[in-house]
Amino acid sequence: MSEEVLAEEGSGKLWGGRFESPTNEFVEAFNASIDVDARMYAEDIAGSKAHAKMLCEQGILSHEDLNAILRGLDEILGEIESGEFKFSIALEDVHMNIESRLTTKIGDAGKRLHTARSRNDQVTTDTRLYLRHRSDAMLARLCHLQAVLLTLAEQHAATIMPGFTHLQTAQPVTLGHHLLAYVEMFERDAARFIDARQRMNQCPLGSAALAGTTFAIDRQMTSELLGFDAPTANSLDAVSDRDYIMELLAAAAICSVHLSRFSEELILWMSAQFGFIDLPDAFCTGSSIMPQKKNPDMPELVRGKSGRIIGGLVAILTTVKGLPLAYNKDMQEDKTAVFDALDNLEACLRVFGDMLPDMQVNKAAMHQAASSGFSTATDLADALVRAGVPFRDAHEIVGKSVAYCIREQIELHSMPESACAAIDARLAVAMVRALSVETCVAARDHIGGTAPKQVLLQVGLWQQRLAKKELQSSGVTDD
Ligand code: ARG
Repeated sequence: MSEEVLAEEGSGKLWGGRFESPTNEFVEAFNASIDVDARMYAEDIAGSKAHAKMLCEQGILSHEDLNAILRGLDEILGEIESGEFKFSIALEDVHMNIESRLTTKIGDAGKRLHTARSRNDQVTTDTRLYLRHRSDAMLARLCHLQAVLLTLAEQHAATIMPGFTHLQTAQPVTLGHHLLAYVEMFERDAARFIDARQRMNQCPLGSAALAGTTFAIDRQMTSELLGFDAPTANSLDAVSDRDYIMELLAAAAICSVHLSRFSEELILWMSAQFGFIDLPDAFCTGSSIMPQKKNPDMPELVRGKSGRIIGGLVAILTTVKGLPLAYNKDMQEDKTAVFDALDNLEACLRVFGDMLPDMQVNKAAMHQAASSGFSTATDLADALVRAGVPFRDAHEIVGKSVAYCIREQIELHSMPESACAAIDARLAVAMVRALSVETCVAARDHIGGTAPKQVLLQVGLWQQRLAKKELQSSGVTDD
């Protein structure tokens, strides 16, 4: 049995054997990642346990040592969870903090744990394990927000509001339909997390520093013990790949952009100029000088957070792009970016999920806005087309009608018969009288259309899908 002796003399570091003088004090703090990676303690311990079990199974570690290691690691887990454990900057990271404590507790057996392993395969194993569960938590948050949106969409299946293009009134839509647009976006966001998680779920343990190890390890075993789908197939790739972090950050960045657009709409809708909604007091703040103010800080912050989440994606891409294989210390920065992004995205999803159920909707203001700005103009053109007028001519006729209405300060449906006839003989007054925002939305009655009937249909489909997801996440499925 080969034994890896961890130096305790010289620099006092686990790697200190070839060093003669201690690390510069400022460098020690600069080099340390413990502030960031301490949160992976449970994964680090789980990884070490799996590694030790495998070493024992392969005859590389005695049963006695294994038992001491397992017991020691369990005690350390307890110490960390009870807040007793003292993480030290001098011990650099979570891996060496735990290993060093283990050795203090159990002596030589602790020093044998790092056989056939390196921090390079250890750190990426821990990170994958940790991100796996963070990704699952994100899915639960997304699913909850979708459920909240579905409830609102059902309530507002027939609530009419203006639909915009270029932020100019375009055509009437239903609020339910508008909210369902976000349900779709969040579903694709969830799919991106699922997809990234699946690719990330391979076990790097055994890749050691970069080239593998001279010990007869069983990588299949550690992979299975840790719930990975398979061991990674190339040791150089396994210790240097950070695309799983890039993918998660890309998923997070896209999701945060969706939340940011939604935020922007809520902020606009809550302004006095729109007056469409009011957000609950519990999610707004006031001004220290202007007594009348009620500010939509939560959507503003969520919109702002997208900046740093996108920043995380740019950071990891830029950090890795020039790195030669295999591990480089630059990679330590990966966790700062991805943890910050996921923490913030999860908080944003939580705020939205908690805030939206208590949002007040001013249906009258939405209806009023939808009824102005000539939102029914396309439908008038469609009526002309149905009467046999070519669409381009219909467009021109309605354009002239709108110009007339702007001059006269009236709406299309109240145009006098004489004006219709003067603009074009084919423009029947019955056509303008038939225009209403209700008929406009009801007429868009096809898959993906804004008609209340279609909104309710989609809500029903989504409720089934979400119920299925909830069953799956609780481990009970019908099929
Ligand atoms: N704290 C390090 C990180 O996060 C762990 C791996 C260090 N490996 C090394 N060879 N220095 O990347």
